[in-house]
Amino acid sequence: MRANLSKLIQEQFKTPSPIRQIMKMAERQNIINLGLDPEELISFGGGWVNHFTPESYRKSYLEICDDKELFHSSGGYSTTIGELECRRQICNFEKELFNVRLSKDNVIIGLGSTQLMHDLFITISDPGDSIMLLDPTYPNYFGQIKFTLRNSKTIFLEGLDKESWTFIPDLAKTIEDFQDLYQARNPKIILLVSPDNPTGQIIPQELVEAIMDIIDKKNTFLIIDFAYKSQYFEEPPEYFSWSPSDHSQLIAMHSNSKWGRGLGRRLGWVEADETVINGLVSTQQCNILCPDTLHQMAFAKYVESSLRDNSLKKYIEESRIKYKKAAEITCDAIDQYLKMRTLRPQGGLYTVTDVGKDSDLFVTDVLKNTGVLLVPGKGFGPSLKNGVRISYGPLVENTEKITEGIKRIGDYLSH
Ligand SMILES: Cc1ncc(COP(=O)(O)O)c(C=O)c1O
Repeated sequence: MRANLSKLIQEQFKTPSPIRQIMKMAERQNIINLGLDPEELISFGGGWVNHFTPESYRKSYLEICDDKELFHSSGGYSTTIGELECRRQICNFEKELFNVRLSKDNVIIGLGSTQLMHDLFITISDPGDSIMLLDPTYPNYFGQIKFTLRNSKTIFLEGLDKESWTFIPDLAKTIEDFQDLYQARNPKIILLVSPDNPTGQIIPQELVEAIMDIIDKKNTFLIIDFAYKSQYFEEPPEYFSWSPSDHSQLIAMHSNSKWGRGLGRRLGWVEADETVINGLVSTQQCNILCPDTLHQMAFAKYVESSLRDNSLKKYIEESRIKYKKAAEITCDAIDQYLKMRTLRPQGGLYTVTDVGKDSDLFVTDVLKNTGVLLVPGKGFGPSLKNGVRISYGPLVENTEKITEGIKRIGDYLSH
């Protein structure tokens, strides 16, 4: 074939994501080629949750599919902004869990936060604008920035201090660094994740407040990616309750993937000022036309019934405790068997561990010799060159595998 793919894609092919490469290495056939038993593979690689969706949520799908008229409705286009009833129930969900005072006009629904972030970048910034991220951060953003805002510049604010292996050890200094970078580089977007991927830390209230003060009435948005909002292990900070009516430059990105184990049932939403919501409607119109109707109907049905019988909070609480326990088991095993520095998660599914050498080589060596998969840190930002991300999310229902996997690595390293 003589016809070329776009230059953008050709460039992407030349710089494949290190995470995707390692996940490929862990594919069944490759594990067999390495002389290992795929059944014995223990993976700390996956960025997903593995607890069960509430039964009543599953039943809301059954009820829709079992009713001829409802099922017929679920096959219709939704409005581009999302169904009114679903947006109303999102407001109720946020009020019940985090005391957010939200209006349906400040909510737009999409096909998960990945699509919404892509459309949000297009909606609020222009090619060439700068974007500030914490180092390290969620690696998918780098590709999304390239795809949506060609030639945009990425600015890193230090999150993980490599020397002490602590997260934001000196808040005053981080705020000062932020102020300096902001003045020098004038970013259009500041993007934080809380609880964070990959560090498992909750961004401190004081930092978020300082950022909001510094960018107040300037041409900048702060996006907080709340993909892991329900997986907090300590008292959640105050900004978990902030609403767009109080903070018009704050955009909260939400996902249905993690709290309800609906990763493949694509649904997410954005909470923002109406101007941003209206802009996103225009972008979504061209991109996805409308969010998935069946998932919106099932979500609305579940939230309505789980608020009525008081089961929503109980479910969130129970799953939250599971992840907290899995995080503790992971860190205890790292302390006992690896004796490496690791961050104690305050939420989410991950910790980052200092392996003291190039993490690409470390991860490949460990996989070949133990059948345990870790994720090398380089793809998350420069601070994690000698670090790995360990995800306990997929093993939340099999925590004995967490200890077994870490012990296997410890046994190998000590030989
Ligand atoms: C920080 C962060 N944002 C977004 C996503 C993807 O979310 P969604 O499934 O809603 O696209 C992930 C997935 O791992 C994530 O870690």
